[in-house]
Amino acid sequence: MSELRDIKGKNRVRQTPISAERYISNEYKQREWETIWPKMWLVAGVAQDVSESGDFFVFSLEPESIIVSRTRNNELAAFYNVCQHRGARVLLSDRGAMDTYTCPYHGWVYANDGELITVPVGDGFSRGEPCGKRGLKHIRVESWAGIIWVCMDPDGPSLDEYLGSIKEMVAPFRPHQMRLVEDQTVKLDCNWKAVFDNFGELYHVEHIHPQHELIFDCPTAINEHMDGGHSRVLIDGFTVNSTLPIPDEVPPTQWMQMKVLGMNKDDYKGRVLDVRRDVQLNKRELGPGLGYDYDLLSDAQLSDIVQYNIFPNSILVLQPEEMWVLRARPHPTDPNKCFWDKFALRMLPDEEIQRGAKVEFPPLQNRANISFNIDQGSDGVIRPEHDEFTQDDIISGEKTMTITLDQDIHLIRDIQKGMHSRGFSEVWLNDEESRVQHYHTWLDHYMED
Ligand code: FES
Ligand SMILES: [Fe+2]
Repeated sequence: MSELRDIKGKNRVRQTPISAERYISNEYKQREWETIWPKMWLVAGVAQDVSESGDFFVFSLEPESIIVSRTRNNELAAFYNVCQHRGARVLLSDRGAMDTYTCPYHGWVYANDGELITVPVGDGFSRGEPCGKRGLKHIRVESWAGIIWVCMDPDGPSLDEYLGSIKEMVAPFRPHQMRLVEDQTVKLDCNWKAVFDNFGELYHVEHIHPQHELIFDCPTAINEHMDGGHSRVLIDGFTVNSTLPIPDEVPPTQWMQMKVLGMNKDDYKGRVLDVRRDVQLNKRELGPGLGYDYDLLSDAQLSDIVQYNIFPNSILVLQPEEMWVLRARPHPTDPNKCFWDKFALRMLPDEEIQRGAKVEFPPLQNRANISFNIDQGSDGVIRPEHDEFTQDDIISGEKTMTITLDQDIHLIRDIQKGMHSRGFSEVWLNDEESRVQHYHTWLDHYMED
């Protein structure tokens, strides 16, 4: 696999066939449950949901269901959500805080570290009293970047080994200090890899995201491939598409955030191509006053956007003030369906974390302004409710995951239909889509194991 490592710019990578079969076949889906899901480190949820002793959340990856818990000893633990008596789901709620978990079927009671502590009629088991012996089955768990990661394989690499250099590259953004402001899931009529592929290339941006022409310079984005099937893309922000005529005036899409940085429309002297550099300088100067600590970030990181695609199903999109964690989850039975999750986390300017405050976040490059009520929680921060909806809710305009994601979602079910057509057998990728090829080459590598 080493020939695929760290290839920059216009990549030429080995083109192995990516057939339609992997998106539609039940047999392929079944094999993923042998070679992918039980072997890899997966995003289970956000760390803030298990910040206090007793906190738990349930990560659903049907047919598996995994409990992540901050135990009575204040340790992080994860176990299969399956009662060791007769296999019932122990927890039916998604999130909360409890000292003990009582199975709803016959009432076995587990401590929040997974130990079985009491059972009804304990002396009635001729195979032996199960308490202290038949606790919930643990799996590996780690907290990094404000995210909880789990791995069902007891013998696989550590999370450090799994993520390699990604950990170091993400650290300057201090994502562990960000707080959850959106928690959304959309049910999509496509295979989980079809939506993941969509976020593995910018080749489609000019066609379905026309607004990006006046925010980012996608054609000069740098694609990087990493071992393990991970990849990164770096995109210049606060600029325009350099392959199109450069507008005379700074586009209105950039003014909102520039204003926060003291760059006012009426007296800004720079031209369109000066904005990116001026934003970097102004963030450096004004950041501390606005409550943001940009010390660890490079100039480019202050203005640009960076995205990590982490094998097999998670994406981190980073800007200095915000991180998106995007995650594809397979449908339990149907390869033509999946769940697409978006956790948006924002850096909270310190002084605003207080009960009852309403925080107005500055607008970002790729989304409108949002505000957020700070109202609850031990540190004064409320958690948004999990919002789950269908792609039709997005298509009808009832729900949104931001304009850009909505545009992707509009198209995605047609792609899945295409995979079923007698007129389609395999994809034919442009070099700009090299990260998609890289991902699938590694997928093949694992699937053939
Ligand atoms: S299955 Fe849980 S107590 Fe019986
Ligand atoms: Fe897109």
